[in-house]
Amino acid sequence: MTDARTLGDTSLRRCPVTHDDSSWTVWGNEEARLVANDPETFSSHVSKHLNVPNGMDGDEHRRFRTVIERYLSDDVIVPLYPGFEELATEIYASMGDSFNANDFGRLVAVRCQSQWLKWPASYENELLEWITENQAATRSGDKRRTKAVAEAFTDIVRRIVTTHEDDESPTAKLRHDTVEENGEQRPLAKEEIVSILRNWTSGDLGSIAYSIGIVAHFLATHHQIAADLRRYDEQGNTDALDRALDEILRIDDPFISNRRKTTKQVTIAGQEIPAGEKVVIHWTAANRDPRAVGYPDAYNPEGNAAHNLVYGSGPHVCPGRTLSTLELRAALVALLRGGNLVLTGEAPREENPVGGFASVPVRRTATNH
Ligand code: HEM
Repeated sequence: MTDARTLGDTSLRRCPVTHDDSSWTVWGNEEARLVANDPETFSSHVSKHLNVPNGMDGDEHRRFRTVIERYLSDDVIVPLYPGFEELATEIYASMGDSFNANDFGRLVAVRCQSQWLKWPASYENELLEWITENQAATRSGDKRRTKAVAEAFTDIVRRIVTTHEDDESPTAKLRHDTVEENGEQRPLAKEEIVSILRNWTSGDLGSIAYSIGIVAHFLATHHQIAADLRRYDEQGNTDALDRALDEILRIDDPFISNRRKTTKQVTIAGQEIPAGEKVVIHWTAANRDPRAVGYPDAYNPEGNAAHNLVYGSGPHVCPGRTLSTLELRAALVALLRGGNLVLTGEAPREENPVGGFASVPVRRTATNH
C-alpha cells in the first residue's frame, strides 16, 4: 500500500496530469492552480447531494459563500484564540510524558471546534469516535461504509441543530440567518444549515487532527527549527509561527484532494480532457511540485509561500483558514512550551486516500535535550 504523499511524488514525476479508467488527476502545482481558478470549466457540482457551499458554482456559490464568511471572518475568529490556547495547553498537560500526538490532535480539534460552535461537551465522545470511524471508512474505500459514516455525521448535526438554544452560538445564529435569492433575502432551509455545519466540521476535524500529528512529528525530527519556533513564541512573533505552520503542511499536506467535473473540453499540460469528465485536484502532490518549490522537503517558509496550496486557491479557497491556523497555532505553542519532543518509535504513514501519519508516538524531554 502507498501513502498519499509518495503516490503524489511518484505520479508527478510521470506527468503533472494523468488519466486512469474513471478520472483525471492534476498533480502539478501550476496545473492545480489553473483548475481551481477556472470554475467555469471545472465545476464543483460533482454530487447530487446538497453541499453548501463546496459543491456549488457561480452565482449560487457566491450567495452561500457570503453567508458562511460572516461566521469565519477574522474579526469573529481572532478573538477566540486565547480560549483555543487555554484548551490546547490544558489538553497537553493531561497527555502524560509519552503520548500519540494524533490523540492530542483529535482532542484539540474537537474541543476547539466545539468551543467555536458552542456545541455541548456531551457530544465530545461521539465526535471523537466519529473521526476514527470516518478515517477507517475512507481508508477502506468501501462506498457503503463511507456513506453510512457521512449519514451518521449528518444525524449528529441534525440533533445539535434541533436542540441548540444558545442564541449567541453560530449554530443558533444560522437558524435565523438568511441567504439572497432573486434579489431578496430568504431564511436558510434546515437542510442548508445542516450542510453548512457538516462542511465546517466533518472533514476538517480529521484534517486538523492529522495536521497536529504532522506538526508534532516535524518538531520531533527538526530540533533546530523547533528551537527557532520556540524563540518566535517567546518574542510573540505569531506571524512567523503561522508561516511555519503553512510550510510544515506544504511539505506534508493531509488534506489530499478535491473533485471537479469538466463542463467543456479543455487542454491542460498537453492533455485533452473531454467535457463531463471527473477531475481530481491533488493538493498534497501540488504542494511538493519540484518545478515550483525545488526540493520538496526543504523547509523554506518565506521562499515557498507563493506556491503554497494547502488551503486551495480560487473561489473555493478555504474560508476556514484563519480558524484552522489559530487552532494549529494553539497546539503548536502548547507543544513548544512543553519542552523538546522526541519520537519513541516508528511513526507509520496513513494509507492513501488518507494523509498524514497513522500514529506519532512522542515523548517530551527538557528543552536542553
Ligand atoms: C488543516 C485544516 C484545513 C485544510 C488543509 C483545509 C483545506 C481546504 C481546501 C484545500 C479547500 C478548497 C476546496 C476546493 O477547492 O474544492 C477548502 C475549502 C473549504 N474549507 Fe477548508 N481546510 C481546513 C480547515 C477548515 C476549517 C477548520 C473549516 C471550518 C470552517 C473549513 C471550511 C472549508 C469550507 C466550507 C470550504 C469550501 C469553500 C467553498 O467551496 O467556497 N476548512 N479547505
